[in-house]
Amino acid sequence: MKYPKLISPTSVGRCDLKHRVVMSPLTRLRNDEATEAPGEINKLYYSQRASEGGLILSEGTSPSPGGRGYIRAPAVFNDAHVRGWKLVTDEVHAKGGFIFCQLMHAGRVSHSTLLPNQQLPVSPSAIQPSGLVHIPGGKKAPYEVPRALDVEEIPGIVEEYVVAARCAMEAGFDGVEIHCGNGYLPQQFLAKQCNIRTDQYGGSVPNRARFLLEVTDAVVAAIGSDKVGMKLQPGVTFSGLVEPEDDCFEQLAYLGPELQMRKMAYVCLSSCNYAPYFQFLGLTEPNFKNDVWRFFRQHYKGTLIINGGLSPERAEEYVAEGTADCVSFGVPFIANANLPELLAAGFENDQLNAGGWQTNLWYSHAGRPDEVGYTDWPLVEPTVAA
Ligand SMILES: Cc1cc2nc3c(=O)[nH]c(=O)nc-3n(C[C@H](O)[C@H](O)[C@H](O)COP(=O)(O)O)c2cc1C
Repeated sequence: MKYPKLISPTSVGRCDLKHRVVMSPLTRLRNDEATEAPGEINKLYYSQRASEGGLILSEGTSPSPGGRGYIRAPAVFNDAHVRGWKLVTDEVHAKGGFIFCQLMHAGRVSHSTLLPNQQLPVSPSAIQPSGLVHIPGGKKAPYEVPRALDVEEIPGIVEEYVVAARCAMEAGFDGVEIHCGNGYLPQQFLAKQCNIRTDQYGGSVPNRARFLLEVTDAVVAAIGSDKVGMKLQPGVTFSGLVEPEDDCFEQLAYLGPELQMRKMAYVCLSSCNYAPYFQFLGLTEPNFKNDVWRFFRQHYKGTLIINGGLSPERAEEYVAEGTADCVSFGVPFIANANLPELLAAGFENDQLNAGGWQTNLWYSHAGRPDEVGYTDWPLVEPTVAA
């Protein structure tokens, strides 16, 4: 066995896993544009990637109309969404797998043309993200200056996460993941560059983490801590976060014990310090050089999933040394639907299909939400690798 630790059983919350190869959330923008619900094509996509005793983390899913960030991204707050996602979760469970729903509130990384009543996106502070956003009609527009949330509005946003978490459980998910990365709303609160509030939600690290922990506590109270995971992406430069947060180690040192105390199903710590992603983002060098995973492990003893540019070989090392309990893979899952099976058969990194790096297929194919680059990858037979 080439990866004896990666391909060994463990548990995440209530899910008994047969291996530790987790599918990372991947926005693919192939859901129904009008209803924001998954349908048959999405069911097929997740079914292809489900495995016996394997865990899938769904693509970023909006918890409310105001949380919408992308056309054809899914949502999870009404009956149509619940019905759509049920198609997916039933299929994953039929294959013996598990699936968590990633709750992603875009906050300021949205546009009034995507939101109800053409309202402005919201954020902790009225700071405009740099960059362009896709708007209806296939056009791109600059991000707008968001509206700073009043302190009285914050419980309402927290409640939206609770409603979404309940809908996700009704749709058959095994749990939810609170997305605190990629520059979306919870990370907008955490990051000084977009949070200049002077109330209890701004300033110190505990204050900036308050929103995230309030969301966590409310969702935990609603569905149980063993069904709630969290994704952290300190230092990421994405979606208008123009520079890595200079205090992200401090954030991690604070959040580790706080999240451990809450007995979450898991924390997924993603680091984006790897070459191809930088190149895609137009950066020339890694923005985050320290080993964030080993650092966080000292502050968090609960179930830890690590992610970001990891080869199976490196993943095995991190699990073997006790830094990680599981490893999630994003891009490798795009063109290797049966990745866990291939790794169980001993496939090395360079034996995997690298087609997932065709970035033109990530969010649609030639502007169409079709199967090309989504569900039509040829299946690689898991014959034992040479
Ligand atoms: C096409 C694409 C879509 C993504 N969508 C999401 C998303 O919806 N939510 C999220 O947390 N991360 C998202 N990510 C980031 C991945 O989950 C993962 O953190 C990142 O790709 C690094 O892991 P990898 O090197 O194994 O691909 C996306 C990445 C890609 C390439």
